[in-house]
Amino acid sequence: MKVKAIKQAGNLRGKRVLVRVDFNVPLTKDGKVGQSEDFRIVRTVPTIKYLINKGAKVILMAHLGRPEGKPDPKYSLSPVAKRLSQLLGKKVLLSPEVVGKKTIELVGSLKNGDVLMLENVRFHPREEMNCKRFAKQLAVLGDIYVNDAFAASHRAQSSVCAIAEFLPAYAGLLMEDEIKYLGSALRKPKKPLVVIIGGAKISTKMKVIKNFTKVAKRILLGGALANTVLTVMGISVGKSPIEPEMFAEVKKFKLTDNQIVVPVDGVMAIKREAKKGRTDAMGDVRQNELVLDIGPDTVKLYENILKSAKMVMWNGPMGLIENPAFAKGTASLVKFLANSKAETIVGGGETVQIIRKMRLENKFNFISTGGGAMLEFLEGKKLPGLKKIIK
Ligand code: ADP
Ligand code: 3PG
Ligand code: MG
Repeated sequence: MKVKAIKQAGNLRGKRVLVRVDFNVPLTKDGKVGQSEDFRIVRTVPTIKYLINKGAKVILMAHLGRPEGKPDPKYSLSPVAKRLSQLLGKKVLLSPEVVGKKTIELVGSLKNGDVLMLENVRFHPREEMNCKRFAKQLAVLGDIYVNDAFAASHRAQSSVCAIAEFLPAYAGLLMEDEIKYLGSALRKPKKPLVVIIGGAKISTKMKVIKNFTKVAKRILLGGALANTVLTVMGISVGKSPIEPEMFAEVKKFKLTDNQIVVPVDGVMAIKREAKKGRTDAMGDVRQNELVLDIGPDTVKLYENILKSAKMVMWNGPMGLIENPAFAKGTASLVKFLANSKAETIVGGGETVQIIRKMRLENKFNFISTGGGAMLEFLEGKKLPGLKKIIK
């Protein structure tokens, strides 16, 4: 999959470049961007700096939360503009509206290398409708369109999708990276490829697992989603929540040929808030227990398999990481992979969070900014935001 790279856009001096970014980050209770929550903002800095250095006038479009088509101060991009300004070491202007007189005026006043951010595009009722008329209103603000919002590219929305019909469209540097790394894990992985899938629900990751059965040597399961698979295999997971509606789908997997690997032991407790868990073999889980983490034997088993991998793709934690008593399985694999020679590609909100908390993000080859977008990409779907920027 080749992208139309920003480097092919020609001379950018004085050009108004409209850039769609994904700045959808969680805010703290007092409405600021949390210290370890700015990953998505940090990752767009290279594209923005590239444009500044080329003398472009940079106009950023982003959404925050789901304000449902009307202005709501709770979802203002103001704290995001502040953080971006700190990261760039440069003033970032924020227009008080998405489109309108004020925005046109501000765009008109931009000098080469200036950065302007439009207010939350989802304050406009037509953003989520992928509306051509609104997309045109955005498009007239620029000469070129750059999509650097991989994490929002699964949404067919005006500033991600329709706008690309009205301007020459290019992929930003982050977008290029996302497609390169996630695309290679899926289409031309270094072999053997080992995939780790964990997290909350098998229903949200079923298609991804299925798609990886075509290319991965092994698929290691963990987290709450493994409990549904264990149940199908006839292994009791006590009172752990499972998804019976997924049994039929899970049964379609060849669970006997060792490609899909499930935990052999776990850390159990009677409630999620427990201070300490009980480690035991799968098969010895008690009826009143929840399986909340993978156990040390599973960690060893998984590390052994990972040792022979040339490429590792990981999404989803191995346990209830919000409780330190059940974060050890995930943390062990993070440490192991941080020291691995294999090419390591990771994604997913919670998975990335724990890696950043452990300050090991630089030890991974690639960390995706995508949540839902990454999963859909890895399912093999064509994302609406990528249509015009793929050659
Ligand atoms: P990601 O965002 O990284 O893709 P998910 O959203 O699928 O991951 O799942 C992350 C959530 O799954 C975390 O909040 C974690 O606590 C929860 N989780 C993982 N394993 C378990 C488990 N065994 N029991 C309960 N919750 C779990
Ligand atoms: C995300 O956070 O996954 C993207 O920014 C998309 O947000 P949405 O799920 O509200 O469309
Ligand atoms: Mg998540």
